[in-house]
Amino acid sequence: MKKIVILISGRGSNLEAILQANILKAGQAQVVQVICNRPEALGIDIAKKYQIPVTIIDHTSFSARNLYDEALLEKTLSFAPDLVVLAGYMRILSGPFVSQFFGKLINIHPSLLPSFPGLNTHAAALKTGVKWHGATVHFVTKDLDVGPIIIQGIVPVLPNDTESSLAARVFEVEHQIYPQAIEWYIREQLVLELGNVRVDPARQQFFMLPPTP
Ligand code: GRF
Repeated sequence: MKKIVILISGRGSNLEAILQANILKAGQAQVVQVICNRPEALGIDIAKKYQIPVTIIDHTSFSARNLYDEALLEKTLSFAPDLVVLAGYMRILSGPFVSQFFGKLINIHPSLLPSFPGLNTHAAALKTGVKWHGATVHFVTKDLDVGPIIIQGIVPVLPNDTESSLAARVFEVEHQIYPQAIEWYIREQLVLELGNVRVDPARQQFFMLPPTP
């Protein structure tokens, strides 16, 4: 049984999608802890609904950034996770944290990386006029939003889209690709080669998610 720790800061819709994943239902992995840096985050209630223990480490209660970073690293290590999943975790991780979990640390970003790293990705997509947008699950490296890509989900940008209508469409695809990426990881079907990731074809055929209609 592989152990997963999930870090959140907000709403927790990706957390919920992961908690409903078949790989967890099949008993091949267990979410042993949710760690949240914001005491008011809605995702805490989602974790409770699924009876997952939650640790709150409020970053505002630390006098210095490095003290928070050290507490987060120590707490996460205490669960000896096989995989650390960032699901809307809105703080930049420290170098020691990323090094400690390198190759075991994944994130979801709401754009088709390498386009639109950072914040406000949906506004940037609309402003730029791209016709396709989406989300990316990737391994985390010390540089923001540039780690090896595991899977991407694609959605069209429609003529009357607003930031919120586009975000809602992207969320739908996020909730499909994150459980898929985790399943591949837990089944050891991801192969890291020279900074790229592929799904081991000897074990399972690679497939692309179709775009959301
Ligand atoms: C998602 O858009 C995710 O891509 C980004 O933060 C958001 C988290 O949403 N990293 P939720 O908390 O999972 O609902």
